[in-house]
This record gives sequence, structure tokens and C-alpha cells, in this order.
Amino acid sequence: MGWGKQNRWAQITKRDGRCFFLAMDHGYFLGPTRSLEKPGEMVAPLLPYVDAIFVTRGVLRASIDPNMNTPVILRVSGGTSVVGGDLANEGVTTSVDEVIRLNAAAVGLSIFVGSDYEHQTLTNLGELINKCEPYGIPVMAVTAVGKELEKRDARYLALSCRIAAELGATAVKTYWCEDFHKVTETCPVPVVIAGGPKCDTILEVYEFVHDGIERGAIGVNLGRNVWQDGHPVAAARGLQALIHEGLTPQQASDLYNTVKNDAAVVA
Ligand code: 5RP
Repeated sequence: MGWGKQNRWAQITKRDGRCFFLAMDHGYFLGPTRSLEKPGEMVAPLLPYVDAIFVTRGVLRASIDPNMNTPVILRVSGGTSVVGGDLANEGVTTSVDEVIRLNAAAVGLSIFVGSDYEHQTLTNLGELINKCEPYGIPVMAVTAVGKELEKRDARYLALSCRIAAELGATAVKTYWCEDFHKVTETCPVPVVIAGGPKCDTILEVYEFVHDGIERGAIGVNLGRNVWQDGHPVAAARGLQALIHEGLTPQQASDLYNTVKNDAAVVA
């Protein structure tokens, strides 16, 4: 890895090599998702706890204060919607010029292995990497499944992650699953855990994140389980402590309750 790419990657993984990326890109195919109707207001109190935000250029330019100092990972694939034909039919939506102009630390793009658009999304990834390499911009591949959530088992996710790594992705974001080490052990680049739909309790979130990290992930790219929680600052603080400070899921959950209760006292 050249110096510039190493430096950009270091900006978003802190000194311990771990990461807490806050995903807030959902509107690119879901529109105004619950709790993400006003992304700038949602994210402002969470910025102190996260290592980077994962966001589209439109929301970044319109809703995020350029004076903030949290690094940005730009979502650069899209072109589909939840009411359209096939979520896998994505193209690249944002140029490398724009990525540089917006001072992004990295970019993210979805691949849909096993879908009708497998070839298209994998060549999207290869071409994006070709364009980002000369500028030292890290590329995070997102192993997406569209509406087919049942695909998320270790065999399928290991296949998708390995293919993304073979094409040259700097890192891969994928879903947590049972036997997650089978995904990380066969992927030669860092693996970041994606979230998925909201869990019933914060302890469940902390438990799957902890398990994923124990089994080789470097951290998370989580959205709904943070900002759809009734107490997003507490959820974020607990994740930060779990990922960077070595708290157990139960300790992180206790910290969540402390932060939540302190906020109630102040209010
Ligand atoms: C949406 C994404 C999200 O960034 C990813 O799914 C993480 O968000 P969540 O934790 O809400 O699932 O790639 O396409």
C-alpha cells in the first residue's frame, strides 16, 4: 500500500487498527428511512464516537457541516430503489474527481454475488479500484444481498468477500453470521461487519459485534442499530467502548444504560 492510501486508511481505523464506521447511506435506495429523515441532525451528536461516516455525496454536501473533523467514506454505487425492479442493478454514481473534491478518506461500493447483476457489479468494483489506485484512495466493497436476506450464511459471505478481495478491494464490509471466522479466515483483506435490520436489544447488537471481532473482523459499519435505537448516543458510546476499549458486551450494555440515564438526568 502506498503512503497516501495507508494514511487515508489509518485516518479511519485509528491507531489500534479497529473501526466504528457509522452507516448513514440508506437513503440512496430507501429514501427517507426512519430516524434518518434529517441526516445532519441525526449524526451531529454521534460524531465524537465514530471513526468515519459512510454517506452519499448528496447528503454530505447538503447536510453535514464541512467544519467537522470526522473522516468520510463516500458511498459511490447506486441507481436503484426499493420500489424498482432489482436492487442489484447498480452502477457507479460518483466520480473519483468528486471523491477527491469532497476530501473523502475512502469509498464504498456494493457487489451482488449470485445475482443477475453479478458481472456488472463486480466489474464496477474492478473499474472503481483501477480509478482509485492512482490517487491512493481505499475501496471498501460491500457484499450486498438486496432483499434476499436469507443468503447471509458463512459459505455465501466467504465467497463474496474473497471475490471482492481478489478484485483488489482494500477492505470488505459483510454481514455477521454464525461461524464468522470462516469468512474472515479466507479473506486476505480486513473485514468490517455490516449491521442489518434493527435488533430487539442493544445487548444483542453488542454480542454479534463482539463475536465478529473475536472471529477476525476489524470493526463495524453500523447504521440502524445505532440511529434507530431510542438512545443513539448511548448506543454509539457502547460500541466505541466495545471496539476500541475492550469492553465485553455486558459491560458495553451497562455503559449504554449509564449514558442513557445520565442524559435523562441532564434533561
Ligand atoms: C446500505 C448499507 C449500509 O451501510 C449497511 O447495511 C449498514 O447499515 P445497517 O447497519 O443499517 O444495515 O450498505 O446499503
